[in-house]
Amino acid sequence: MKIALLSDIHLDVNSSDDQGLGRDISLDVASFIQSLDVDRIVIAGDVAESAVNCLSYLEYIETNAKKPISFIPGNHDVWTEGTSSWDEYNMYRNHHTSLIDLPLQLTDKYVLVGNMGWYDYTFGLPEYKVEEFITHRPKNWDVKAKFHMSDPAFANILMDQLQSQLENCRQYRVLLVTHFVPYTEFLVRKPDSPEWNWSNSFMGSRRIGEIINLYPNIEYVVFGHTHMRFGMVNTQGRKVICKPLGYVHEWESPDLNEELKRVTTIISLDE
Ligand SMILES: [Fe+2]
Repeated sequence: MKIALLSDIHLDVNSSDDQGLGRDISLDVASFIQSLDVDRIVIAGDVAESAVNCLSYLEYIETNAKKPISFIPGNHDVWTEGTSSWDEYNMYRNHHTSLIDLPLQLTDKYVLVGNMGWYDYTFGLPEYKVEEFITHRPKNWDVKAKFHMSDPAFANILMDQLQSQLENCRQYRVLLVTHFVPYTEFLVRKPDSPEWNWSNSFMGSRRIGEIINLYPNIEYVVFGHTHMRFGMVNTQGRKVICKPLGYVHEWESPDLNEELKRVTTIISLDE
């Protein structure tokens, strides 16, 4: 079985006039995916703001690419103009593409496990305490993600769900998809940019990596969120993949198809 991995395709922003290509890119993305010799597409979050938008993009791509999608949301996908991101989260949970608390058996040997993850400031600068990250959280950072609890508390809920799923999949080889950074080696530190280093607090959680390390049966980990492309890295005894598409201004070229080729990882799993 062949699986294509993608993350952070940001179809709304990348189609927009001001930050994107100024045209709806969803058919291009669907055509690209259709051309791939794979059985399934896995998207590690950040497709579009709000569940209504995001799910409509996913359904459009599935229909036009004629390939099934498995999805976990990222922070942008749970942004809401309403009162609660739990509404968005539950819309994903109830959608047929969702991996939330629902591992998908891919082959006799392999299971696909998904969990959005979250950030809990454990990647923050060591001179700050957790309380200070909460107090000094930038006013414009992820303000449309409304889970009505602290980031560390929300991350804990997600991490407990992740561990419980992994416990139930010990007998399988696992492909794990999350949105947030699990290991410090995928953080970028810039000695001359305190702001950048501060933003690492919001990149992910050490606990995601600690949980992954408890399960040697996890063979592949795919994530995004950081719009830095690290490729596929052999680390911690497994293959870790971070190749987000990101925003147009972050691309190596303005050619969508070229960028999609650069960021798509195809893996082959034993039947
Ligand atoms: Fe993103």
